[in-house]
Amino acid sequence: MVNVRSELASRGLEGVFTRANTLGDKATQRLNDALTEVDFEVLDRQRAALNQEVVLDTSTVSPPQLINSSAVESASNSAAVACGEQALTDNRVAIITVAGGQASRLGFNGPKGAYPLGQVTGTSLFQMLAEQVILLRERYRCELPWIIQTGPGNHHDTVAYFAARNWFGMSSSSVHFVCQGTLPALNANGDFMLTAPDKLFSNPDGHGGVYRAIKRSGMIEVLRAKGIDVLYYCQVDNPLVFMSDPTFIGHHLLADAQMSVKVVEKTEASEKVGLVVENDGKVQCLEYSDISDELQAQTADDGGLLYRAGNIAVHVYDINFFEEMAEAHLPLHLASKKIKALAPGDAIPSDVDAIKFETFVFDALPLADRVVVQLADRMFEFAPVKNREGSDSASTSRTALSERAKAWLPLIDASIDCGDHQIEFSSKIVSGPQDLSYRKQQIQQGHQQLICSCGNKLVTLA
Ligand code: UD1
Repeated sequence: MVNVRSELASRGLEGVFTRANTLGDKATQRLNDALTEVDFEVLDRQRAALNQEVVLDTSTVSPPQLINSSAVESASNSAAVACGEQALTDNRVAIITVAGGQASRLGFNGPKGAYPLGQVTGTSLFQMLAEQVILLRERYRCELPWIIQTGPGNHHDTVAYFAARNWFGMSSSSVHFVCQGTLPALNANGDFMLTAPDKLFSNPDGHGGVYRAIKRSGMIEVLRAKGIDVLYYCQVDNPLVFMSDPTFIGHHLLADAQMSVKVVEKTEASEKVGLVVENDGKVQCLEYSDISDELQAQTADDGGLLYRAGNIAVHVYDINFFEEMAEAHLPLHLASKKIKALAPGDAIPSDVDAIKFETFVFDALPLADRVVVQLADRMFEFAPVKNREGSDSASTSRTALSERAKAWLPLIDASIDCGDHQIEFSSKIVSGPQDLSYRKQQIQQGHQQLICSCGNKLVTLA
């Protein structure tokens, strides 16, 4: 048990109690309890980071080596598909979805996964992913546990959302909710910020917190006991995500990689995606906000972007590497923000300057000895919902879902006369290219009636 008083004293921070002490023992105790949640070793790194200027050296950056998964005919891809499918069938895979963010850019009041994206049906992001998980479990006859990382601001709402929908037909014990941790915000001097005399201001620790959160929840042992050693990671905001892509899993396993990353070709230099590069022999993801416009705009001999590998935040992990990352010192990303907190001498909170800290999941990439970077086809795998309007909005994502469904229909020998209407295709029908021949067979054998939405009506595919 951490001795908060001595930890604070050794850092000259015991003044944090001054106001709580004036309110009595209970207030002091409440603040003490909140401070026991602080990891003082990490706090030291946070305070040190306040005075370190991070200079990103891009002089040794080069484009990464890519495996092109859209060229499905290649022998290496066939071997990868077989290897990945075997891993799924052998029950070696679990899925992790991070959904701890606040959806502030989207302006949605509730967990982002509850956003009703379906054009006709209002199917939520969570349901779209759940339908994929169900289909994958059926297809590979595997357990495929699904771990959803929530945040302190949406944990209860997320669990309640699933419970109210009966876990979309999955058994509740096959879906695990793990709440990510927090990091205290600091002022420029490295002092804690308080929202009340007995309340510390802290914020979610970023999706890089997923490593610690899952380790601390005890899930790693639970998964190992089931024989699971491959973790498939994705974000809740991309309804086109190809969960448990066997080609990707296969390439990762065949390369004996520790962590792998999927990318798509960037549409333009300024697209707001992380850039996956090789830097000094290591694969690394550079966040769009950290790199110069010049670097992003450099062109290759073919006239296209030299740095075109856009991060879609889909990873495969070896479980041992994932566990190690819980203790790794991932870089802290600092953001100067106005927060509602007590200014010195004030009794009520106001907007004050603070520094928030986060860690990013992809900062584990350079710590891996071997990484596979797989190029995916954007049309089939990436259309995130980030913004209320414009690019990466619900509208662009719906169009992408419809375009993909229209491209898949002939491949399962189904047809539908939709005119210019958008169509909505349940993830229960096809979750990825590997399902196409399987579904086609089922339709041909009359085993399945597939429902699809077109315009404003539901139709049965024939
Ligand atoms: C992220 C990636 C970017 C990538 C893009 C692809 C970062 C910093 N950048 O950008 O490289 O190209 O996705 O769509 O992430 N989340 C948590 N806990 C948190 C914060 C976020 O679980 O504390 C989850 C969110 O719920 C969401 C995901 O992480 O599912 C992404 O977060 P977001 O802040 O939207 O990342 P982007 O800036 O869009």
